[in-house]
Parts: sequence; structure tokens; C-alpha cells
Amino acid sequence: MSLPKGKKNKEILWDRWRDDLLINSLNEGVIVIDSELTIRVYNKAAETLTGQTAAQRIGEKAEVYSLEDSPAFEVLRTGQPIYNIENDLKDGRTFLVNYIPIKHNGETIGIVQSFNDVTERKKLETALIHTRDELDEAFALTLPNSKVEYKLKSTPEFRDVYDPRTGLITITEVIPDGNYRHVVNALKVAADLNHKGIMGLVGVKKDILVETLIFHDIGKAQPDLKVGDKVDPLELFEPGMEHAWRSADIAEHYYNLPEDAVTLIRYHHHSEDELPPSFPSYLLPMHRLIRVIDGLSASLTRRKSKLMLEAKSPTVFIWEENEHPSYAGQWAINLFTGLQRHYTLEDDTLDKYFKGKEIRRISNGYGAERQ
Ligand SMILES: [Fe+2]
Ligand SMILES: [Fe+2]
Repeated sequence: MSLPKGKKNKEILWDRWRDDLLINSLNEGVIVIDSELTIRVYNKAAETLTGQTAAQRIGEKAEVYSLEDSPAFEVLRTGQPIYNIENDLKDGRTFLVNYIPIKHNGETIGIVQSFNDVTERKKLETALIHTRDELDEAFALTLPNSKVEYKLKSTPEFRDVYDPRTGLITITEVIPDGNYRHVVNALKVAADLNHKGIMGLVGVKKDILVETLIFHDIGKAQPDLKVGDKVDPLELFEPGMEHAWRSADIAEHYYNLPEDAVTLIRYHHHSEDELPPSFPSYLLPMHRLIRVIDGLSASLTRRKSKLMLEAKSPTVFIWEENEHPSYAGQWAINLFTGLQRHYTLEDDTLDKYFKGKEIRRISNGYGAERQ
């Protein structure tokens, strides 16, 4: 159709086409019904999504496709919009629907219903939840008993923001089973390093590492805090070395963990120069590895960081994206010498270790994504 000549005629046509163009160019299905439930508008996307044509439907009564009663009745009654309702259709699909009232002189005379097919997204969400449940179950099987599971699941971790001016933190989120998440994330990091070959390093023993990670924070005592609390962390949180000592005693006396695992648990909050002379030097590579894994897992659990790992024995390379600038960046640690090297995100020195390789990116949720 060509535009007729004359500016005025063009304006008239634009006016006539405007609503049609707008409504039919949308990706969302749009159906407008009046208060008698008669269909007045049926756009192209609605035709695709429902398999019926506007010619068939306009002028007809609206049908209820969902399993439940349509919220449209409530919108007509109250005049209030309802957004993001998941409608399970009789044919098995799920639509996400908005119901917006059309008002005239204060009276609700109709409803605009806009909708999308979210069936695939829902399937993906369900699959993810299942993966998470399966992982939970698999991990629970590795725990020695339900007491350990209960302790980990009932010890919270907190997300917070730190105010450097006052030294106080404000709690922004409570993760009720934070300790459990922390241990699972630590095992995920360990599994990734295993995949990269680091467990093949002389001086690193997989069994000891796993036992240490499961029990390292078992003796942790956390304060009872809620979102919005502003507290002095130094006053409220027990120093790490104290729960490390308690965890080691519990692991040794109640769970008969091997001596090396107990020692690693006892000193997991000691930096290298704080270790006593009695600390066996053969455990140093494991001590370094556990401290790296513990820190990375804490970031995954509490700071929503993203992580990429690479290993070239005896060096572990880490690439971390973190909302906390002092943790973000690239660094490497040599597990034999303890030497660490930090890189800035702009520095591409580590690229040669990551480029062109299939890298597992660990996110703070479950299920490592490939990229
Ligand atoms: Fe700890
Ligand atoms: Fe920890």
C-alpha cells in the first residue's frame, strides 16, 4: 500500500495505522476484551501463540485456556492490574500473563491481556532445581551422619556491606544454610581442580583434602543476625582461629579424622608466617591449597563471585570476578613454594593459560556452566 499524496492524507493514514502497527509489531501476545468478555483486539503474536486467527476470535467471547479460573474476572471486579501470572494451559504450556484494566470515567470497561510462552524457561528452571537437589543428595551421602548435616545446614552465613568510615557492617542477606553452601562450593572448587589435574601433584592427597573441607568449619559459632542489622564485626564474630581449633577437636575426637586432616583443620585460619614450628612442612602444599579453596568458596557463597581455574602443577591460576574490588583479579599460587603473584584484570599475562581452553566457570549457584 503506498501513501497517498498530500500531507494531511498521510497524517490520517498514520493515525489509522499507528495502533495496528504498534500492536502487531509486538513480540508479546495481546488480547483486549471488554467487560462483557467479548474479544476486541487480537494481535499477530496472539495468533501465533494460540493458533487461532484474529478473524476467528474478534467479536467472540473469550475462552479460559488456563487450568484455573482466569484472574481477568478479578481485574474486572477490582479495577486493579495483575502482573506476571503463570498460567498453566490445558495443552501443557505455561504462559506468563499481565492483566491491565482499561478504565473510562473510573469504570473498568475492559482488560488488556499481554502474554508470553515461558514453557521452555520453566522446563530449564525445573531442570536446574533437580540438578541442585541431586547435588544436595550426593553431597549428603558423603557426610558421616545426620548430625553433621544438621550442623552445616543450620549455621548461617551473611552477606553484608562494609562501611570503612565506621568499621561497621550492615547485613544485607542471611543465608540460613550458609555453611552447607560453603562446604558444597568448596567441594565444587576442589572437583574443578581435580579435573585440571592438581590432585596428581605430589604432596596433595585427595581424601585428606575432602575430609578437611567437610569438617573445617564444623565448630563455627555464628551470631544471630537479621537483614538491616548494623554491627561491629570484630566484636560480634569469633576470630577464625577459634572455630578452627574447635572444628579440629570435634573432627579428631568425635569423627576420628586422620591426623593430617585434623592438623589442616586446626590451622586453616593461620597464615603461613603464623604457623607454629611444629607444623609439618610436608603439609604446606595442602595447607596452601585448602586456604585458596576456602577463600574462593567463601566468595562464591557470600559475594556472588564468578571463578575460573586453571592448573599447571604445582601452580594454580585463578581468575575471579568479584563485586569486592580487592578480591577481583587474576592471581597465581605455587603450591610448593607458596609464592603468589597478583595480576590486575587489565594485565593479560594469564590469558595464555585460559585462552583457547575449555574452561569451567563456576558460578555461585549449582551446576558449573561451560563457556
Ligand atoms: Fe573457617
Ligand atoms: Fe571456611
